[in-house]
Amino acid sequence: MAAREVLRMGHPVLRERAQPVERFGTPELSSLIADMKDTMAAKNGAGLAAPQIGVGLRVVIFGVNHNPRYPDAEEVPFTVLVNPKILLLTREVEEGWEGCLSVPGMRGLVPRYTRLRYSGFDGEGLAIEREAEGFHARVVQHECDHLDGILYPQRMTDMSKFGFNEELFPGEDLVDE
Ligand code: NI
Repeated sequence: MAAREVLRMGHPVLRERAQPVERFGTPELSSLIADMKDTMAAKNGAGLAAPQIGVGLRVVIFGVNHNPRYPDAEEVPFTVLVNPKILLLTREVEEGWEGCLSVPGMRGLVPRYTRLRYSGFDGEGLAIEREAEGFHARVVQHECDHLDGILYPQRMTDMSKFGFNEELFPGEDLVDE
């Protein structure tokens, strides 16, 4: 298993709709998930979708550990989610800053729904269903958008709130999704 190259905005695979996984528990799916974990860890990301490493399948991973440097940052449980579905539990939206490993070095202010239920499967085909709000809900929406060929700048409503990390947040060490 190995960290893979992350495709950047502009690559055609990032604009395609990914296909559902049809067989669980296969060596191919396990090795895809292992490579995604390694890639996310190597890049210190908060999440990663399979199309970002050039694989057009509906697989995302995400998770944020408690970081003592950012005691206010919300923790998100590490999750592998295959064939995800989102059910919105509110129409309320909230703006928040996002980054993406496919848009390296940049940040944008993105409106997202604040509360949702997500479901899907892990790599072995075990069902997952959870409710999420706030940052957790944001990360899920960001990752699932990747499966429909959407990157966060396409969700922005005010492009004046899009820029380089060092200019927007000097001195901060930020994670990307
Ligand atoms: Ni992303």
